Amino acid sequence: MNTIRKDKNSVLFQTFEYGPLRLRNRVAMAPMTRKQSPGGIPTEDVARYYERRAAGGVGLIFSEGTFIDHPSAQAHEPDAYENIPYFFGRDSLKGWEAVRKKVHASGAKMMPQLWHVGEVRKLGMAPDPTVPGFGPRGIEQDGRHVVKAMDEKDMDAIARSYARGALLAREIGFDGVALHGAHGYLLDQFLWSETNLRGDGYGGDLAARMRFPCEVVARMRDYVGPDFPIVFRFSQWKMGDYQAKIVENAEALGTLLSGLTNAGVDMFDVSTRRFGDPAFETGPESLAALTRKLSGKPTIAVGSIGLDQPHQSKHYRKTASIDAKVTDLVDVTTAMRGGEFDIASVGRAVLADPEWANKVRDGRTDEIKPFVRANLETYW
Ligand SMILES: Cc1cc2nc3c(=O)[nH]c(=O)nc-3n(C[C@H](O)[C@H](O)[C@H](O)COP(=O)(O)O)c2cc1C
Repeated sequence: MNTIRKDKNSVLFQTFEYGPLRLRNRVAMAPMTRKQSPGGIPTEDVARYYERRAAGGVGLIFSEGTFIDHPSAQAHEPDAYENIPYFFGRDSLKGWEAVRKKVHASGAKMMPQLWHVGEVRKLGMAPDPTVPGFGPRGIEQDGRHVVKAMDEKDMDAIARSYARGALLAREIGFDGVALHGAHGYLLDQFLWSETNLRGDGYGGDLAARMRFPCEVVARMRDYVGPDFPIVFRFSQWKMGDYQAKIVENAEALGTLLSGLTNAGVDMFDVSTRRFGDPAFETGPESLAALTRKLSGKPTIAVGSIGLDQPHQSKHYRKTASIDAKVTDLVDVTTAMRGGEFDIASVGRAVLADPEWANKVRDGRTDEIKPFVRANLETYW
């Protein structure tokens, strides 16, 4: 690849300020599940992993998805959801505090990503096999109710679990909290008409489908107060369905964003597989650009930044090639200079090369390591 002149990328290295949040630059590390926290406890190795990325120059780190303290929050499948960290319990929280301190000492800010898998959990899974999955719809398998359709009491309990997580994030000294509303997990299951088949006030049209996610945000805001940033991640794509859509056009997107903003979201993290792809067939604007325009809120874009192949969300071991080559950042920086979004979030490229941000900043782009399958085996 061509070596990019350092000044071309300078927009990435401007400071960012919003409310109490002060970032040294506009490069974020995207949330990436790592499966290295036995018993739900982030170890010293986890702290060093994040510290390396902070020292490598990113301004903001989103933690990997971390489970909230509801018995239905977790899934356990071999190779998929093992050793995910918890965001509750004394030892897990001590582990997270150690992570947070190391990241801060290296000059980056950090937010945990709160996660509930929804109907991905099934009855019989650890840690308590008697607890079914909880989701917008019930699911039966082999004559057993493996997923329970949540009632209003369940919704209230789970909203409180998210809110407790947000409050803990604040108490531990994180710089905000991120909500995993994407990729086919609980909140996204409510948003998507294919998984939300409810006939009550929580399903039906978009306003009804977004009601529970908005209630979660409102409860979190209630617990943390006005000055603690809440970032909401949403996507159109799901694990295993890249063409899925929760909103079919810009008007519906506007409805979703205004509901979430009114509930208390400060920033949107717009998860796409290629950040610049048009959001809808009717126009060229990306999902991040439309989100920025319609919400007026700071917006984070993600998806194939610095890499020539998109993220493969499932079965990477069975996929012939998941490697991706390093690319220049012309499209990213042009979009940012044009005001399309505020922060560039980088996933696999920062996994592959913890020094990615410093190398880009210093014009050492020819030293950037590409993303290879081994990165998902070692998670160095
Ligand atoms: C190994 C791996 C784990 C991921 N885990 C999460 C996760 O826990 N939460 C989440 O919201 N997205 C997760 N993602 C998606 C990334 O945050 C990001 O959106 C995606 O990789 C696209 O960015 P990229 O093209 O820069 O890699 C994961 C991606 C990878 C590669």
